[in-house]
Amino acid sequence: MRLFLAIDLDDAARDAIAVEQTRIAQAIGRSPLKLVVPDHLHLTLVFLGEVRGDGPAAVRAAVEAPLTETAFDVVFDTLGVFPARGAPRVLWIGVGEGAARLIALQRRIAGRIAELGLVVERRAFHPHLTLGRWRESHPRDRTAVLNRPRAPGGPRLHVDHVTLYQSQLSSSGSTYTRLARATLESPP
Ligand code: 2AM
Repeated sequence: MRLFLAIDLDDAARDAIAVEQTRIAQAIGRSPLKLVVPDHLHLTLVFLGEVRGDGPAAVRAAVEAPLTETAFDVVFDTLGVFPARGAPRVLWIGVGEGAARLIALQRRIAGRIAELGLVVERRAFHPHLTLGRWRESHPRDRTAVLNRPRAPGGPRLHVDHVTLYQSQLSSSGSTYTRLARATLESPP
């Protein structure tokens, strides 16, 4: 089973991000950037990849164990692209306000997965929401996107849960199925 852990967007954040995606698509014109469909938008915390045997059940139990972290808000502000140089492949919007809380939450949940003996990505966690992916691109596509003026005040998201997803790949795209959810405590 191909698994990952992510934070879902609420309707308001999803709508605000969709508006942002449309603005970017208009600004960059005919570049073959494929936008992530709004229903598929999520903020990935841990990508586990293929997990076999008893692994999925263990991951589910680890995710459902109570979390003591309290809910918090994040604000998506800066646009960026991966990789950092050359032709871009992924367009993302990064987290400004709330990033430290998000990184702490990611560390906690990734730690639980690592305790199960499953491999967790060693690269530093860079909180972002993928907005689109280029099928083909040129280095100038980077400047076309990143030099756009941005409206002040980015989309805000209230983070109060973590979802365990199964991802199924097919020729028509990915299907994401929710398997479990951890809920953060309400702030005092
Ligand atoms: P990202 O595109 O927002 O970085 C499900 O595939 C999710 O897991 C994707 O939305 C992707 O998030 C994330 N992910 C992280 N590493 C991945 C990898 N090596 N392969 C596929 N997805 C990955």
